[in-house]
Amino acid sequence: MAEYTVTVEYNSTEKQFKVQKGTILLDALGEEERAQIDTPCGGKGICGKCKVTVIGEVPAEITAEEKKKLSEKELESGVRLACMTKVEGDIRVILASQSAYMQILEMGIEYKGESAPCVQKQHVSLSQPSLEDQRDDYQRLAEQLEIDDLPICNRELSKLPELLREQDFEVTAVYNQQEILTVEPGDTSSSNYGVAVDIGTTTVVAYLADLGSGKKIDIASDQNKQKAYGQDVISRINHTMKNEDGLDQLQDLIVSQINDLIHTLVKRNKVELEHVYSVILAGNTTMIHLATGLPPRYISTVPFIPVRKKRMLLSASELGIEIAENGRVYVLPMISGYIGADIVGAILASQIYQSTETNLLIDIGTNGEIVMGNKDGLVSCSTAAGPAFEGATIRHGVGGITGAINTMEMGSKDLVYTTIGDKKPIGICGSGIVDSVSTLLFLGIIDQTGRIVSEDEISTETGKMLSNRLTTVDNEPAVILATSKETGKEDIVLTQRDVREIQNVKASIAAGILTLIKHTGLEVEDIDHVYLAGGFGSYINRIHAVNLGLIPSALEERITVIGNAAGSGAMMALISKNRLFECDRIGEETEYVELSSLPQFQEDYVNCMFFGDTV
Ligand code: FES
Repeated sequence: MAEYTVTVEYNSTEKQFKVQKGTILLDALGEEERAQIDTPCGGKGICGKCKVTVIGEVPAEITAEEKKKLSEKELESGVRLACMTKVEGDIRVILASQSAYMQILEMGIEYKGESAPCVQKQHVSLSQPSLEDQRDDYQRLAEQLEIDDLPICNRELSKLPELLREQDFEVTAVYNQQEILTVEPGDTSSSNYGVAVDIGTTTVVAYLADLGSGKKIDIASDQNKQKAYGQDVISRINHTMKNEDGLDQLQDLIVSQINDLIHTLVKRNKVELEHVYSVILAGNTTMIHLATGLPPRYISTVPFIPVRKKRMLLSASELGIEIAENGRVYVLPMISGYIGADIVGAILASQIYQSTETNLLIDIGTNGEIVMGNKDGLVSCSTAAGPAFEGATIRHGVGGITGAINTMEMGSKDLVYTTIGDKKPIGICGSGIVDSVSTLLFLGIIDQTGRIVSEDEISTETGKMLSNRLTTVDNEPAVILATSKETGKEDIVLTQRDVREIQNVKASIAAGILTLIKHTGLEVEDIDHVYLAGGFGSYINRIHAVNLGLIPSALEERITVIGNAAGSGAMMALISKNRLFECDRIGEETEYVELSSLPQFQEDYVNCMFFGDTV
């Protein structure tokens, strides 16, 4: 069969792939290139997100799906769907690099407590053995450290005699509560570093900390490279089930990405890799399974059972994490198949488990995770929000990348928006979508049932000023948010179908909140604090979130944005072993409620389909 060359350009680099005639373009690319392409529908030609630009003549025929999803202008300029276009000749493809410009939420709550990490270092000056002092080398060291009987592996033990004598009995021991990890020559006690990693479905954030001072030194982040195998946890789980080496493939990807982030951090801060002894992993339950090589398949089907929920302590080298040879990886505990170690981290960071008041913690991503309660008990639930707020199922939706419309409001005469990086608009991200739907609701262009009304039905005078923005796309009503003049390409629109997507997500999250409150026998007014965690929660405009009915209006003044709380929690557990052990209690004592088993949830969900306050 004929073989063709696909040349791919992105991030000012160029790579070539040899593939057989008829290969789907997406399958022709390497993992790194695939990770630059959004594929929320899993390559079915439905979402229209996997756009790439093919330079020169494209020998392959334009498919029906491409005709449906791409405008004429796009097709003329060589834009194609990577999941539909076949390679029928040598082609050159340009990918818009997303990682370089992705807005990733790194900041959160700063930890200000004591620094007492799990992995400690202690410099000791031992007395020399003699005929009168016949203690063995290990006992001599252990007694000085006051950690008698702490095991040490045979490999480290066998190095001890020479090391002690060469160093004149001046050494530094590195140990945790379980064992002596290593013994180093001289005094290296001031060099003890650790890394906390929050593995999100979309992004991975790593924090480097000096465990001597307890200070955060630096942060590095990237898009999760597993994205090439699906946008959400279910498609990644499916990948592990359909492919024999699927789990290994996804584990290798995340482990090498964590290694890349660690390498970036140590290099940038002139830290020796062998002085990084501990890594804390937080993440949703599926991401933790994939990172640790545990099969996640039973999380995806009723009754959604993980392999293990309790905290894990693993050897970094066995896991493939490149830190000090005997380094350790601590995995935060999980609560259920859909309330993961990231939420345990967020509970730790927000301290709601110690509070005397009643708190609501909400983390909105592809799932909406909700936790309620205080020191007397916490109860949690998860709602399948779907990726609409990440832009995935929205016609012109994009992630938080440069050029994404991120805010929208009504100006004196027309809509006014901002974009990330103040660049020409290329699409609309989660916060922009919420603002747009909310603004159009305020103006009576969208009614409470979610219908985009016709020109003569617009109920406000201000709204009537925007009647020229009403249009139809694929025979359905739509509103132009940014004109082709502003974008330099096609209009950016919000379609009726987009509004329905938002309605579904809104209903799912709002109903989750209401059901949880009712389940605990409380009223909305009983909630003292609402903590919004995660990227979406941090960038969202709270007035618009309340106007949509995403959060009850009675709680508007009680909202606090806490940023990447999962990452903050992982950092706290890294710096303080007491905080790490508190995670065990959080994991064990937080009740999990399966919403689908509660008739109340179905009732609330239907009521919450209407926009506005549904309490
Ligand atoms: S249309 Fe190609 S991935 Fe959805």
